[in-house]
Amino acid sequence: MPNQKQTDYNNSCVTPTYQNTVYFFKNTEQVIQYHESEINVGRYGRYDNPNWLEVEKKIATLDNVQDALVFSSGMNAIVTSVLTFAQPKDRLIYTGKCYRNVRNFFKSVLPKLAIEVIPVDSADTQRFHEEFETQYRENTKIVFIEAPSNPHLYLVDLERLKSQIGPNTLLIVDSTLSTPFNCQPQDFGADLIIHSCSKYLGGHGDILAGTVSGSTKLIEEIRNYRNMMGGVVDPHAAFLLNRSLESFKIRMKHFNQAGMEVAQYLQNSPLVENVFYTGLESHPHFALGQKYLTGHGGVISFEIKANRESTSRFVDTLTVPFMGSNFGSNHPMVEQCSIFTYYKQSAQERQQLGITDNLVRLSVGYGDTGMLIEDIDRALQETCRV
Ligand SMILES: Cc1ncc(COP(=O)(O)O)c(C=O)c1O
Repeated sequence: MPNQKQTDYNNSCVTPTYQNTVYFFKNTEQVIQYHESEINVGRYGRYDNPNWLEVEKKIATLDNVQDALVFSSGMNAIVTSVLTFAQPKDRLIYTGKCYRNVRNFFKSVLPKLAIEVIPVDSADTQRFHEEFETQYRENTKIVFIEAPSNPHLYLVDLERLKSQIGPNTLLIVDSTLSTPFNCQPQDFGADLIIHSCSKYLGGHGDILAGTVSGSTKLIEEIRNYRNMMGGVVDPHAAFLLNRSLESFKIRMKHFNQAGMEVAQYLQNSPLVENVFYTGLESHPHFALGQKYLTGHGGVISFEIKANRESTSRFVDTLTVPFMGSNFGSNHPMVEQCSIFTYYKQSAQERQQLGITDNLVRLSVGYGDTGMLIEDIDRALQETCRV
């Protein structure tokens, strides 16, 4: 058997999945041309893949920046990007109320590398900026902002923040909960933008992936780290993500509309105490939302008029959403935050993070929003006090 591929059949409208470990070269001259960047061919599956490239081009276009990289998960995009730039004796300041594993990474891994990490609470905007001012130093290499934050959807005044930091500090914005459809952080000074594509961008609950986007210069530095650290996405997951991006804008329009409908229903219910949705005037960051967001997505967090046990009964009584910890996909999902994502946190930590016993996070799906609202209404009637 000859040891080289005999066919070259590459005019499919859909890029097939390049489910391969390695690429072959025709001869040594081609190898040299590859090293000299004179030809655009693959070398090895940890460095190159056409399915990644398609995703990366689309994400860079959506984020309106020069380039992007795709990773095996949102966490991997964050870890690789931060480790590319943070050095011993640097300081990293982050929004303290953020996704649990991002906080865990900052608190438990970075100090081992002598990187100082400082959480600043973004719930109160004025206090956030004041506290930020006192914590900011010359050696602050990275400011990491999760906005909207998970699960309260807190925002940050990015322009004001940018005016508080020097040119040697990188502003990284995790924009997973707004997506490029609802927010363009680079317009307000973000140097790097992170998306967990396991959520809205993937949108079908069937892949894990993450991206970082920014200038070619920054992305090339991160690419070297991705090549070494190997947090690459499986080609088939990249294929699925690429397919999902074709319907991304249509899906986001639905999420924005359905999310607002559910949030308005919840706000008008006498059985609901508080609704966290940036499209409602009652959200503390409604005004920031008007400035930075063009839509508010399909995630709504809310506190019902119930204690811990009745809140559990409420989520147990729902029949339309799955109980589980994801958002932005076809299935509506619900969780009682204190006993799901935050179960292992101490009561004191939960209190600091604003995770009350009656806090519920809901993500709408692509199904009938009226049916979801009816289901919530029935469950509230059955389990809450007026
Ligand atoms: C805001 C945010 N960023 C990052 C992540 C991590 O993404 P992934 O699950 O793709 O690793 C999550 C996951 O829930 C998240 O909510």
